[in-house]
Amino acid sequence: MPPSPSSAALTRTTVLHPRLAALIRDHLGQDLFRLEPDTIGVAGPEVADRILAARRATETERPTFKPLQGRSITRAEASRITRTIGDDVREALAGPVPENVDLTGSWPLTGHLFLRDLILGRDPRRLRMLMSRTLELTPKLTWSVIAVGAALPGWPRPGDRLTKLAERTARAEGYQERRYAMGMYRRAAAPVCFTVSTLVANALWLGSPFDEGTPNRNIILESLRLLPPSWNLLRNASPEYPAIDGRIGTEDDVLLLPLLSHRDPALWDDPDAFRPERWDHLDPEDTPGYLPFGHSSERCWGRHMVMPLAELLLDLVRGAGLVVDPAQRVAKVPLLGLLGVDDVRLVRPS
Ligand code: HEM
Repeated sequence: MPPSPSSAALTRTTVLHPRLAALIRDHLGQDLFRLEPDTIGVAGPEVADRILAARRATETERPTFKPLQGRSITRAEASRITRTIGDDVREALAGPVPENVDLTGSWPLTGHLFLRDLILGRDPRRLRMLMSRTLELTPKLTWSVIAVGAALPGWPRPGDRLTKLAERTARAEGYQERRYAMGMYRRAAAPVCFTVSTLVANALWLGSPFDEGTPNRNIILESLRLLPPSWNLLRNASPEYPAIDGRIGTEDDVLLLPLLSHRDPALWDDPDAFRPERWDHLDPEDTPGYLPFGHSSERCWGRHMVMPLAELLLDLVRGAGLVVDPAQRVAKVPLLGLLGVDDVRLVRPS
């Protein structure tokens, strides 16, 4: 018999990086505060709402489609690429789930590799390599891999059996265009593999084993609350902001902090507890301070891919009866752009 969800999860300790822990310790419950000489932190739902509604994110603030190799990515192009990877995700989800898949091991890495192979499995190695997690360590390494990949002979051809995302890449001609196309491939595919596996690793750590009747949707929403992968949203100094709140100076950047608003005791009952059932009665699109996918004026364009992929991973883990290694009592959350536990060990129950 696996232990009850609450008792197993309660034996675990999540150790946030000291700077994340200090942010929560020093600022939980504050709506707006000075973080740095030139940066204001914002966690209050009303002021966050007004700041995010005041203007759209600029191209350098956007998380996914920032300029690439010095070139701006237009909104139309970003939208086309998001649709392309969306088609690939839909196609992968419509196909049979690979049999005998083994999801034991260290997460999020295991989930990441599963998603990479499920969605991009038929793409050539030089493109799949762009999903290597080691490339996260340094942008320089990423650009070296891209430079080599673009120069190698045997560039994929549009007629090959490729994903739609790789087909776009295959149409690039000449070294510079190929480098750019490879960068774009990584930009579009990375959130699908990296972010979704991180989200599911967080959920498994925070709550598994889950009660049989608990819907995946609630597990995901609750995990996005306690460990939001996008834990901060940056907006650079802008004339609209001092007009919204006099504590924001004309030169101040603003860092909106879902990490804090998602745990604010004024907004949540028992804020530190992992309670998926709270989502039985809450609307994630309309809950003050809940911003895992950004603001209603421009929510994440990829969120409709995230939910089914995360649900598939959870179904496979739950269906196989996998559990977090009972010997693992501690997981660390490093200070990275993508918030999540870095090594959750999943095992078959003995
Ligand atoms: C767990 C997974 C994900 C989370 C938590 C997440 C979170 C977010 C957040 C918070 C924003 C708003 C950022 C801001 O206003 O500054 C955003 C925007 C966006 N997301 Fe996601 N996202 C996820 C997955 C994806 C995926 C799979 C894609 C698909 C490629 C995607 C593409 C985008 C795009 C295109 C935008 C609009 C702005 C931009 O160009 O970056 N996201 N996302």
